[in-house]
Amino acid sequence: MGLTLVMTACGANQESPQSDNQDSDNSSTGEGIPVGVILPETASSARWEGFDKPMLEQALRAEGLDPHIENAQGDVQKFATLADGMINDGVKVLIIASINSELGGTVAQKANAQGIPTIDYDRLNLGGSSEYYVSFDNVKVGELQGQGMADALKDAPDGAQIIEIEGAPTDNNATLFYNGQQNILKPLYDSGKFKLVQSQAIDGWDNQKGGTTFEQILTGNGGKVDGVVAANDGLAGAVITVLKKNGLSGKVPVTGQDATADGLKAILTGDQYMTVFKPIKLEAEATAKLAAALAKGKEGEEEAKKLATDTENDPVGKREVPSVLLEPFLITKNEVKRVIDEGYVKAEEVCTGELAAACTELGIS
Ligand code: BGC
Repeated sequence: MGLTLVMTACGANQESPQSDNQDSDNSSTGEGIPVGVILPETASSARWEGFDKPMLEQALRAEGLDPHIENAQGDVQKFATLADGMINDGVKVLIIASINSELGGTVAQKANAQGIPTIDYDRLNLGGSSEYYVSFDNVKVGELQGQGMADALKDAPDGAQIIEIEGAPTDNNATLFYNGQQNILKPLYDSGKFKLVQSQAIDGWDNQKGGTTFEQILTGNGGKVDGVVAANDGLAGAVITVLKKNGLSGKVPVTGQDATADGLKAILTGDQYMTVFKPIKLEAEATAKLAAALAKGKEGEEEAKKLATDTENDPVGKREVPSVLLEPFLITKNEVKRVIDEGYVKAEEVCTGELAAACTELGIS
């Protein structure tokens, strides 16, 4: 892997890990206290490389830290190898956005055994040992998705048929999103307003698999569907491709999450009803502040405690993990502008071709 950690005189009292080959892939500049970040996937969502990576890099650097950010590309073995490399190279804090809880827990344990504090980033590792967790209110994310569906179909006749395409069963967030959705949808299923066709979790948040699974469920239901709860924009995109093939897109509301460029475009064309905007810059900044405190060792303990004012329950580890949990926002057509104004997605990425007019109408430039 070849991490390059070149320490400078920054007042840190740790030994300097030595290595002199520059790794061009690495975000490290060699200035500041080395902090490792491992992201889980690229294909499951555009967020990881598009938002998290650059925003973490900037936020960590702003705290005087030297970020080493890698992506495991959905490969559990690669994740473990990256973690070993970072631990051996002497990162002072390890930030983990894991593929599954077992893996994340093992990595945290290894790091902690070397005296390296860990932060669970975005995804909580159930039964893990990280001292802190930074994420969004993920039950609220699911509630916004459920609410989006309820709003979209409020005038539909009773018995509207719903298919749910959920996230990876090994990602605790997917469970929380599902629970949040059900807070809104269960009463509607119970009253007969909605009818659940099938709810299916998708391994690894694999977008393609989400599409083929949805297609099978749709075919099995005689081609009939009135609404699709898709857990993120990637899965929504795969669902929309199938709906298009069946002449249904634009007629069947689809939910999403992550406010990606593709998701926002699909909202403007009317193929997707809503997405959930999670201001990842705030997630990155909160993580960087915590990391900076933890990098100080004992001295930073109080500071870290003060930053993590929320708690997340870990039902497996039976503990309340000190957390920073941020607020997610529902985005329909009228709120697309907000995501662009806040700099997450560029107007040029969204307002192409036939969408130029819709952008002008919504004041997006
Ligand atoms: C994240 C979502 C993301 C999904 C797939 C979840 O853990 O919270 O933002 O869409 O993973 O990468």
